[in-house]
Amino acid sequence: MCPKVLIIYDSNTGNTERIAQAVAKGIKQISGVTVAMKRTETVNLQDIIDADGYAIGSPSHFSIMSGKILTLLTNLYSIRDKIAGKPMAVFTTGTGAQVIALENIDRIIGVFNPTFIKPGICVETIPDRANPWELDEAQLINLGKKLAKAVLISEKRCKPSKNEHGILRDNA
Ligand SMILES: Cc1cc2nc3c(=O)[nH]c(=O)nc-3n(C[C@H](O)[C@H](O)[C@H](O)COP(=O)(O)O)c2cc1C
Repeated sequence: MCPKVLIIYDSNTGNTERIAQAVAKGIKQISGVTVAMKRTETVNLQDIIDADGYAIGSPSHFSIMSGKILTLLTNLYSIRDKIAGKPMAVFTTGTGAQVIALENIDRIIGVFNPTFIKPGICVETIPDRANPWELDEAQLINLGKKLAKAVLISEKRCKPSKNEHGILRDNA
């Protein structure tokens, strides 16, 4: 079964969701990896345990991450040993505090010892604009590709190939 990347995000007005979609587009460009997108309201801890890598996306609320993302991260603490080492990327949106929100998230997820996919992406959104961000979509696609490649590498490291199993058997 292909390794899976899970994008978990919060979005009230669609900005962060659109960023999530662009990151997913990048992940889909790497063969051998699948991607699923889930809002914080629909994801459960088993979905998270079953995934092999993550992207976490949050709007900035009151100069920090959104409350739903903070709740998600709080809940991840109970399964931190199941997510340790897995690749994780972060993206945020905001009208100024998107960088602070990303720093907040990075600091918390550092507790889970992930493989950070850096740099995360902070997108400045402009209220009442149909296309709210100025950022080149290519950067978001690139983040998705980097994350997917890291997931493939980490899967190879964890699971010995058929050949390696053969070598183990021969030596037994
Ligand atoms: C309740 C609320 C509080 C917000 N507080 C901030 C803030 O403190 N700093 C900031 O830069 N943007 C703030 N924003 C703007 C959002 O972060 C920004 O519009 C974001 O792109 C919305 O993402 P979404 O469309 O995915 O919900 C706030 C928005 C809301 C609804």
